[in-house]
Amino acid sequence: MSDIALAIIGGTGLYQIAALENVETLECDTFYGKPSAPVRIGFLGGKKVAFMARHGEGHSVPPHKVNYRANLRCLKDLGVARVLAINAVGGITDSFGPRVIGVPDQIIDYTYGRLHTLSEEPGSEVLHVDFTEPYCAKLRANILRAAEKIAMPIVGFGCYGATQGPRLETRAEITRMRRDGCDLVGMTGMPEAGLARELGIDYACLAIVANWAAGCGDGAEITLEEVLANVSVATASLPQLLEEILKS
Ligand code: HPA
Repeated sequence: MSDIALAIIGGTGLYQIAALENVETLECDTFYGKPSAPVRIGFLGGKKVAFMARHGEGHSVPPHKVNYRANLRCLKDLGVARVLAINAVGGITDSFGPRVIGVPDQIIDYTYGRLHTLSEEPGSEVLHVDFTEPYCAKLRANILRAAEKIAMPIVGFGCYGATQGPRLETRAEITRMRRDGCDLVGMTGMPEAGLARELGIDYACLAIVANWAAGCGDGAEITLEEVLANVSVATASLPQLLEEILKS
């Protein structure tokens, strides 16, 4: 068993965790190729934590080109049992305005053409994992409890709609997603969550609302500056939350 208590996959706007101490860097290679970035392993509140930047540390890998299989296989090879995925998202429904942090409980996958399973290569095992509840209930509960302990506002539900990107959505696409039951829209929630389930990794998502989704809010143009500024503000107390999660 690995002594890594938690791995964090950081999304747009989160390329490192400055609070990590005594950081060691591991360059990994896997059966599925190279992950997006080296794994930074350090300590937070005395617990060992691994961090990987999903898009690369210089944000060079777009959502549809992320080697999700290599990223998760690498963490699994390091003995990681729990992954907290941090994803910048657009907010669709009223509870999810910019800078809100959510812990979604459901997913709808609108992505296509991504390598989304370990059952891809000839001869690989055919996997039909149960995905009724796509996120780990225990890890979700830990996050919500930790947020409550530090009095951090957090929304404990939400359906994450995963789109292909890299472009943002049209108003009509978001209208359809709202009709489908999506509260949040992002480009990286899948296939990551499904692969984690195939690998037997406990996985939950911390969704950082960076903007109102297309046609929501005041309908203003969505800019990268806005996205990054909101992610930066919303993640300011992330180390505190992580420390609290790690106590459980
Ligand atoms: N749509 C898709 N992905 C996103 C968005 C969005 O509005 N904001 C941040 N990631």
